[in-house]
Amino acid sequence: MKDNERPIAVFDSGIGGVSVLRELAALAPNENILYYGDSENAPYGEKSPELVRELTFSNVENLLRIGAKALVVACNTATSAAVRDLRGMYPTLPIVGIEPAIKPAVIYGEQTLSKTDGSSKIIVMATPVTISQAKFARLIGEYEGRAEIIPLPCPRLAEMIETGDINSTEIKEYLKNCLVPFLDADSVVLGCTHYPFIRRHIEEILPGAKIFDGGFGTAKEAVRRIKEAGLENRSTQKGNIEFVSSKDKKMSELYRRFFEMEL
Ligand code: DGL
Repeated sequence: MKDNERPIAVFDSGIGGVSVLRELAALAPNENILYYGDSENAPYGEKSPELVRELTFSNVENLLRIGAKALVVACNTATSAAVRDLRGMYPTLPIVGIEPAIKPAVIYGEQTLSKTDGSSKIIVMATPVTISQAKFARLIGEYEGRAEIIPLPCPRLAEMIETGDINSTEIKEYLKNCLVPFLDADSVVLGCTHYPFIRRHIEEILPGAKIFDGGFGTAKEAVRRIKEAGLENRSTQKGNIEFVSSKDKKMSELYRRFFEMEL
């Protein structure tokens, strides 16, 4: 296989990173992509950051052994716990992580809603690990005084999505319980790659809020980094997308279904 035809590895704790993969495949349809979900060990978002790091390192090592030319960490939790170390470990590998899309939500409040006094209200839904990390505190700190940013840890939510039953009453009730106190929110940031699959339910509960997620930005950045490294696939044929789960074959089939699903 030619160097540039090697796959881009897209990694998540489970099915969530498929929301990023959808964006990446749309932007770079000729790339070969290997999607790997560690569903056997999901959810990451309620484990210790040390364990998330260990699991991420070992999965990434395997993906590189297979011959990945670039890595997209399509998991906010793994990005916040491990991406800095990964960059140190593999200095020549293009590595792109994902973080909650707070910046566009702040700009939306200031420019579209003209709330320039810091009163725009942004809810950031994410896993407990993402919210507990220093990286997240730094990210929020960058927008000090420009918006009211409210972190909303959502334990168990990724796990419920991971079952594949994204329209369950359990999920709808869960969302109602945590979002109804924020009916006046201007925007909601989906800070976990599992959440775009339940976006519709969030919109139903908070119809006045604009929803942001980092999937498109991450995919765009991945394409840019791959080009910059001279690694883009120059083939004009449609790329192959392979789905692998640490859990079982049924799970990797569910990844494909989520990839093809209309949202
Ligand atoms: N999809 C992951 C994220 O973006 C985490 C889900 C989990 O808890 O495993 O944070």
